[in-house]
Amino acid sequence: MRPVVCNGERLGLRDVTEADVPALHAVYGDPTATQHLPFQPRSLDEVARLVEEAVEASAAEPRLLYVLAVVDRGRCDVVGVARLRVEADNPHSAEIGFGLHPHQWGRGIGTDLVRLLLSFGFEHLGLHRIWGARSPANLPAQLAMLTAGMVEEGRIRHHLRTPDGWRDSIVHSALEDEWSRR
Ligand SMILES: CC(C)(COP(=O)(O)OP(=O)(O)OC[C@H]1O[C@@H](n2cnc3c(N)ncnc32)[C@H](O)[C@@H]1OP(=O)(O)O)[C@@H](O)C(=O)NCCC(=O)NCCS
Repeated sequence: MRPVVCNGERLGLRDVTEADVPALHAVYGDPTATQHLPFQPRSLDEVARLVEEAVEASAAEPRLLYVLAVVDRGRCDVVGVARLRVEADNPHSAEIGFGLHPHQWGRGIGTDLVRLLLSFGFEHLGLHRIWGARSPANLPAQLAMLTAGMVEEGRIRHHLRTPDGWRDSIVHSALEDEWSRR
């Protein structure tokens, strides 16, 4: 496995390790951070299992799943988590997901993170299409993806079943040629 190292100005992405479990739990276990995500806040054990699975998946050939720690390069600590899953049947295309600890919100880091994920997918992995699905109510995710250059493609009706019932998703995407033109 070739470890992921992808750096932007403020943020870096690298493969998660067992040592990242508490930092990832600070995002996936937080009710505010998971408010628009399709799962309930995760326990520490659940996050530990996710990290274990991510480490296992990182050794797969071809590699389809990237679960990455988002590192603040100035402070050298983990401020969030990002996922990129290459579609097995359409390996030119991948879905992204991302989350930051609430203490980090509102200072442009989310937008930087989406840009860094696009750069990773297009420039390091050679993908052609990258997409992400968000809750219709998730305004910060909408703005971060739009500002980073991911256009809104449309609405998937009843995409997910949540404890509150069926939830639509809004899909955003970016294409490699759009990215290289920017
Ligand atoms: C989505 C997320 C990563 C955005 O992170 P962030 O660091 O706050 O993002 P930014 O500071 O770059 O802000 C992005 C835009 O949202 C706006 N914004 C941020 N918080 C906001 C809020 N609470 N209400 C309204 N707008 C908000 C910002 O002003 C900015 O808009 P602009 O580009 O017009 O200036 C963060 O909210 C998060 O981790 N949420 C939980 C997980 C999640 O929902 N992930 C997305 C799944 S699709």
